Amino acid sequence: QKSDVGIIGLGVMGKNLALNIESRDYAVSLYNRSSERTDDFLNGEGLNKSFHGTYRVEEFIQSLERPRQIILLVKAGEATDETIQQLVPYLDEEDVIIDSGNSHFKDTMRRNEKLAGTGVHFMDISFSGGAEGALNGPAIMPGGSKKAFETVAPLLSAISAKVDGSPCFTHLGPSGAGHYVKMVHNGIEYSDMQLISEAYFILKHILGLSAEELHEVFAEWNKGDLESYLIEITADILTRVDEETASPLIDMILDTAAQKGTGKWASQNALDLGVPLSIGAESVFARIMSSLKDEREIASQNLLGPEQPPLVDQRTSFIELVRKALYMAKVCAYAQGFMQMKAASKEYGWALPYGEVAMTFRGGCVIQAQFLDKIKSAFDQDPSMTNLLLDSYFKEIVESYQFALRKVISTAVEAGVPVPALSSALSYYDSYRTDRLPANLLQAQRDYFGAHSYQRIDKEGTFHTDW
Ligand code: 6PG
Repeated sequence: QKSDVGIIGLGVMGKNLALNIESRDYAVSLYNRSSERTDDFLNGEGLNKSFHGTYRVEEFIQSLERPRQIILLVKAGEATDETIQQLVPYLDEEDVIIDSGNSHFKDTMRRNEKLAGTGVHFMDISFSGGAEGALNGPAIMPGGSKKAFETVAPLLSAISAKVDGSPCFTHLGPSGAGHYVKMVHNGIEYSDMQLISEAYFILKHILGLSAEELHEVFAEWNKGDLESYLIEITADILTRVDEETASPLIDMILDTAAQKGTGKWASQNALDLGVPLSIGAESVFARIMSSLKDEREIASQNLLGPEQPPLVDQRTSFIELVRKALYMAKVCAYAQGFMQMKAASKEYGWALPYGEVAMTFRGGCVIQAQFLDKIKSAFDQDPSMTNLLLDSYFKEIVESYQFALRKVISTAVEAGVPVPALSSALSYYDSYRTDRLPANLLQAQRDYFGAHSYQRIDKEGTFHTDW
């Protein structure tokens, strides 16, 4: 009896995905570089289930039904290249290798090209939703040939998150498109997390709310426009008490953020494509700044802030302003991410299905949020929309919530509370809606010192002034 699916790599994601797949009546073969992991799993969570442990690559491959569906959950980078190399000699035409690691989309395109002509399909299929998503139903972002997609679609449909009965995945495009969309997802994830953290920081430091009060605010927010997984877990995090100290656990956690690099990749790619992913990039810088803990501690003893922080007496109405500010900034962050996908479609010759991407993000993933429905409707109404902010729903939100964002940022600025992502969102909005930016001066300066030339507003052509 052969297995339906094979998984290589039994880290947390690999194990949970294996359990998810097996629970949908698939027999699953497993392979891990170190055999102890395989054995531990088979004698633990995997006991008495349809798993088949294998200990050599050849044995693993022979244990699979054809066309083989092999999911790699190994470390991105060299480990992925090595694993593919080990597999290929044993594979047959129409077999599908699926890279589900957080690989860079350009590596994916390169690997796909290398496999061209072998008859073996290579797909990039990203999962979002962390360990729990992998176990119970992730959002899935597949890229690769249509033929390969058809082979794996029933499996994806069985294991994915479902919202209103529809599975959260769609074929995004050729090789690289899956990893690309996951990268953009993570860019948005970084922005969303940073914006929420800034809202938390403002409420904590300007209003002086306790963890319990903050919990109530976030729990309340999760009932409205802001309803989302990240707001929900934030509310939950704020309830947790540290057993050792009896303080809120959140106050005991060191304020230095780690990162594995996908937010950085998204920002680097935005620079390559010339897309203003300013909130995403600012969110990466905010993590970098947080990691300079030692320097910040010294600077906090040396550099003064404002003498008199502002007094906010209208607590309830200020909380409402912060809610609106957060929502508007979040809309800007998603607008940036979706515009990045549009630029990528053009640059890489894809036709990313933006509305469907929004639907994919609706369940299972880290950035799942109620308002993704609105993004889907916006693209349904106008598939060629240049910017989400111009859609009637989002236009109304940003126009009416901008007052809140301005007020919250100015209060934070006066209080000396850093709000890099919130203010970047507002600058994005203000820049985007300004028809004449000060770039005329930049051009004049470039021409002044380097004769780089400029264009004029009143006639065609290229001009240079002898300054
Ligand atoms: C997801 C997450 C997941 C992972 C992040 C963490 O969608 O499930 O995005 O892939 O948790 O990549 O990234 P950082 O370590 O960079 O925060």
